[in-house]
Amino acid sequence: MDNPQTTRGGPDARKSAATRNLIRSRFAGGRLPEVENFTASLPFDRRLYRHDIRGSIAHARMLARVGLLTRGEERRIVAGLGAIEREIADGRFHFDVADEDIHLAIERRLIARIGDAGRKLHTARSRNDQVALDLRLFLRDELREVIAVLGRLRGALTALARRHLNTVMPGYTHLQRAQPVSLAHHLLAYVEMFERDRERFEQALERTDVMPLGAGALAATTLPIDRRAVARALGFRRISENSIDAVSDRDFVLDFLSASAIAAMHLSRMAEEIILWSSAEFGFIELPDAFATGSSMMPQKKNPDLLELIRGRSGRVAGDLLAMLVVMKGLPLAYNSDLQEDKERVFDALDTIRPALDLMARLWPRIQFRTDAMRAAAGGFTLATDLAEYLVRRGVPFREAHGIIGRMVREVAASGRSLEQLGAEELRRYSPRFGRDAIKILSVDHSLAARTVIGGPAPRTVRRRIEELERK
Ligand code: ARG
Repeated sequence: MDNPQTTRGGPDARKSAATRNLIRSRFAGGRLPEVENFTASLPFDRRLYRHDIRGSIAHARMLARVGLLTRGEERRIVAGLGAIEREIADGRFHFDVADEDIHLAIERRLIARIGDAGRKLHTARSRNDQVALDLRLFLRDELREVIAVLGRLRGALTALARRHLNTVMPGYTHLQRAQPVSLAHHLLAYVEMFERDRERFEQALERTDVMPLGAGALAATTLPIDRRAVARALGFRRISENSIDAVSDRDFVLDFLSASAIAAMHLSRMAEEIILWSSAEFGFIELPDAFATGSSMMPQKKNPDLLELIRGRSGRVAGDLLAMLVVMKGLPLAYNSDLQEDKERVFDALDTIRPALDLMARLWPRIQFRTDAMRAAAGGFTLATDLAEYLVRRGVPFREAHGIIGRMVREVAASGRSLEQLGAEELRRYSPRFGRDAIKILSVDHSLAARTVIGGPAPRTVRRRIEELERK
């Protein structure tokens, strides 16, 4: 992120005086420097410069079409904006907080470069509809990126699941071993979550894809502008239908932040499991060196800091959503400067979620799985429900079967053994309904293969789901 200092005064102090004149003709005096600093958004909204220029070029071309600019003025404006974009990209642009925001900074520079034609650019436009446009253009680009990264993460997990259809591991409830599942099934649970996240980001994108320019400050304009032409030039699917709503609506930001907060929560749960699995206590996986960190004191340590920070930073994204909801809840229509707070929330959520999704996608294929440890942890008392369901198939009411197997578990556990060690005779001591074939129930592979209901962990059921997901 290009982020050189935004300064006050200095060698360009005369220019900043000129800036003040850009919109302060009704004032007799200048602003207090502290007020200038407090109110400026330039230190962060300069990140929108490309989108601001793209929007201004579309606006200028439209103004020329409807006769509000001459073709010559249009050419000078478009060339001037192009030159300014290069100045900013190359770090040659002087940012001055006196400009307040990126919109005035670029307009001030345009006038300095091309003179009078530059003074016509802001015709039929307010910074209120301009900033709504810039943020929508920016978020539209970024959302497409987020959706792409999310796709890579889903792809990585699905590919891994394909290889681990038969890798048995314990499934947990209350973090206690519960029933056997496969690594594939466990991973696909996250794929389902990230699939819903994709849907939410797509919805956010659809609501972002609305062109607000032309709303002016709040009541549009008396000039004969062509909003459809601007929307077409910028590739918007829809045009805002109410000028008051257009400048005061940040629902699209909330849609993005809520989708981000939920995705960050999913990433956090995933991070937590990787941390657990990499502990000696679980011993299910080994983290790749490239993704682990050392300890300053304990030479043996291999720490999952990356995952702890993915987990920790999910809190910021939830905070970004909450902050924006609180910013908006009491605002009268239409635009209020409180809305200027939207950009840092968007940037922060984006800068948190994007690298986290990307690193997660790159981490999974490099994790080493200790499939023997997983299998060893999967068996034993996790087969208790299978035994109860065996009795159900033999006509025993489930609650009674639950009681029989519960007693069996208590006694077998007390004798320091495990269910798999029971013979057919022993089983029959608990219920005469246990036949010779009951022993076969006592295997994790059998348990897994039998769970073929829709959404179950049986390898062939999971394979079918993978194929469906891969078609999407
Ligand atoms: N910097 C403002 C923002 O970020 C845009 C200008 C809004 N208009 C105004 N009169 N302050 O929302």
